[in-house]
Amino acid sequence: MTQADRTNQAVTGSVIAVVDDSATLCEMLCDLLNDEGYITQPYLCGEDALNGMAMTPPDLILLDIDMPGMDGYEVCAKIKSHAILSATPVLFISSYSALDDKLKAFDFGALDYVTKPIHFAEVKARIKTHLSLRYYQQALQSQNDTLEATLTALKATQQQLVQAEKLASLGQLVAGVAHEINNPISFIVGNGHALKKNVERLEKYLDCVHAHAQENEINALRETLRIDAITQELGPMVGDILESAGRVTSIVDDLSHSSAQQQAEKEPIDLKDAVSLAVKWVTTHRHPSPIIQTENVVSTPVIAHKGQLIQVMVNVLNNAMDALKGTNTPVISIESHVLDAFVWVSISDNGAGIDENKFSQLFDPFFTTKKVGEGSGLGLAISYRLITEHGGEFKAENRPEGGARFSFSIPLSTT
Ligand SMILES: Nc1ncnc2c1ncn2[C@@H]1O[C@H](COP(=O)(O)OP(=O)(O)OP(=O)(O)O)[C@@H](O)[C@H]1O
Ligand SMILES: [Mg+2]
Repeated sequence: MTQADRTNQAVTGSVIAVVDDSATLCEMLCDLLNDEGYITQPYLCGEDALNGMAMTPPDLILLDIDMPGMDGYEVCAKIKSHAILSATPVLFISSYSALDDKLKAFDFGALDYVTKPIHFAEVKARIKTHLSLRYYQQALQSQNDTLEATLTALKATQQQLVQAEKLASLGQLVAGVAHEINNPISFIVGNGHALKKNVERLEKYLDCVHAHAQENEINALRETLRIDAITQELGPMVGDILESAGRVTSIVDDLSHSSAQQQAEKEPIDLKDAVSLAVKWVTTHRHPSPIIQTENVVSTPVIAHKGQLIQVMVNVLNNAMDALKGTNTPVISIESHVLDAFVWVSISDNGAGIDENKFSQLFDPFFTTKKVGEGSGLGLAISYRLITEHGGEFKAENRPEGGARFSFSIPLSTT
């Protein structure tokens, strides 16, 4: 169907009000219009027309100017201020052909003007043009309404998405913080339990001393309770607890800094020291612990946030240890080498390696192949972000001889 056919179809059956005090002309126009497929409403005076049209609004109004009582101009003015009829096109029919009369009609809100004697072909053409225009105008208006409704719906959806995104980021942030403080907290708890036992032994020993027991009895108790050994352990244990507590404090500090859109402070540190601390954190309280080779780590000054660098290594080492569960001779090897302005650190294991089709997801937040409760899937995502924030790169690969290797680069310190 062509556009012209569609327009014809849309305007056929339109309702046209014919307002003329000449019953003959009114009837003749209605008959001719009915023959064209329009539905007509004949009115012989302005009052009747206004009442009737308010009840059954037409699509177009043919309005005579010169009528007794209310004339066409007055009727037109009332139509244009009417709540329902104001947008209906009005075509004046008049025997006045002077320019002033026509201009007056347009001033009153007429859309077009036809002079008597009427040439029906002309009236018909004008009616069709105005009905088509009205049809397009209404179609545009309806499309506009639909677009506005869609825009409103889109804005609402966008707001919901932003809200959901904020919640998701918050969830990720909370999970990330929980993941990072997990290690130092378990260190504090582990050392706390060991300290409690040691304190109990010391109390028992001191009770014996204060009760003025025999020297040989005191010495025997000193031996059995390993008093000399635990006294020596006390200092390092408290030191470890303070260090872990410091790590938690620094994570919380970083969090408040990152919420203020600030970068974490970086300073020159020694890579070998950071590696030693990371190894200590993952091996203490983990029994049995795999062999961790660190002889190929070179003492190199790097520019990094110490806590974050250790966190990255702890995350990768924990993964390697998980991958080595059930391996006969588990070995983790940490190596470093300098390349241009960076030092590359690689952590390799002799476990089963990474599933080949999982490489693309490894660094995605919450990607894990571990059982529920055993892994949150955040370790590598956090590590990747921290290394990128340091200006370094992070890579994962399977070693040809078996097992996985994670490597990352950290800028060398130039001071
Ligand atoms: N050394 C490795 N050998 C084999 N697969 C590994 C190794 N390291 C990581 N992966 C794979 O990468 C996945 C994601 O590791 P990631 O550290 O991000 O999360 P996770 O260890 O599963 O959980 P968590 O949040 O507790 O660290 C692991 O579930 C595992 O499938
Ligand atoms: Mg992990």
